[in-house]
Amino acid sequence: MKFKQIKENIYYCGLNDVDRVIFDELIPLENGTTYNSYLVKGSEKTAIIDTMYPPFGKDYLKNLEENGIENIDYIIANHGEQDHSGSIPLLLEKYKDAKVVTNPVCKGNIREMLLIPEDRIIVIKDKDTLSLGDKTLEFNIAPGVHWPDTMFTRIVEDNILFTCDFLGAHLPFEDLFSKNDDMLISSAKRYYAEIMMPFRPMCKKYVKMIDEMKPAMICPSHGPLHDKPEFILDLYRDWTSDEAKNLVLIPYVSMYKSVEEMAFYMKQKLEAKGIKTLCFDVVGSDLGEIAMNLVDAATIVIGVSMVLASPHPAAANVAYIANLLKPKAKYASFIGSYGWGGDLFGKLGSMLSSLKLEVLDPVLVKGKPKEEDFISLDALVESIFEAHKNLGLV
Ligand code: FEO
Repeated sequence: MKFKQIKENIYYCGLNDVDRVIFDELIPLENGTTYNSYLVKGSEKTAIIDTMYPPFGKDYLKNLEENGIENIDYIIANHGEQDHSGSIPLLLEKYKDAKVVTNPVCKGNIREMLLIPEDRIIVIKDKDTLSLGDKTLEFNIAPGVHWPDTMFTRIVEDNILFTCDFLGAHLPFEDLFSKNDDMLISSAKRYYAEIMMPFRPMCKKYVKMIDEMKPAMICPSHGPLHDKPEFILDLYRDWTSDEAKNLVLIPYVSMYKSVEEMAFYMKQKLEAKGIKTLCFDVVGSDLGEIAMNLVDAATIVIGVSMVLASPHPAAANVAYIANLLKPKAKYASFIGSYGWGGDLFGKLGSMLSSLKLEVLDPVLVKGKPKEEDFISLDALVESIFEAHKNLGLV
């Protein structure tokens, strides 16, 4: 496959993975993903920026051969995770004089994970530069999006920024540049929700840093390239802002439809008050959809059935994942139904310990919700309405 030229002597040499259905064995993918790799030919030296997910390593090497790449001087490792660094050993074996260029933290990771020999690694510091002749690479260490080892590499003369995972999307492409359409927004949001949202303060910081660089182009390591960087930066400004949206998210599990009846009742009442409400039956739901809505929701209400005197594991899983993803939600509550006893909300509440949430009075019913239970649900709806009003959302 012929490499696509991004700009003179700068090429895309990554690959689409349209068959991948889940990432990190956690978030389902709608369209697959890509592993982006870039080739930069200076007048004196040649560099690769990030490499390839190992199952595609042989195809990647074959492409380099077919494109006549006989020499590589530097392999820039922006991040140690193996979807980008995993083919470094293959490159080092083929290109005997090549050196890996990375920061100290990433060096530690690739030494441990890929057993790369010490003498094949050059360690750089923040803002160090590396000359390729008529092109200069500048390294900007950016820990926390999403590993402690990440950095962004910039081609100084072209002001093109390679941000590795940051600002990426799980979206295969044929044309190089993002169409900035609904598909991009959805893929980038799903990606942000799982990979970047837990590091929201760091994301905000790096959006600001990139703003100041005013890059002509942003080239991430997943998904299409951005020749109009403001589009993806604006999305990130919205997603990382402290302001939640007028949205209540009700992920629920319902063994005998009682919890579902409560969830739907709340949705109808909340929407009558002008609050958008989304209910997800978590058994069989796309976890990515739930994660994407966690990006915006001001309030999360977890609906749960009791099983074996404990919260149903499907609801516990959602609570656990919400706790990992650290959304910006300000309020939470629980609705639940039990048959004979146990601790429903105490256990679930403790699973949300890393979120800064105010918990509104939950509603617990035995069996089916009855008249007095609907009165309690009305009270919860009213509490949410007041909370959203205080946030200026309604
Ligand atoms: Fe795409 Fe953190 O790897």
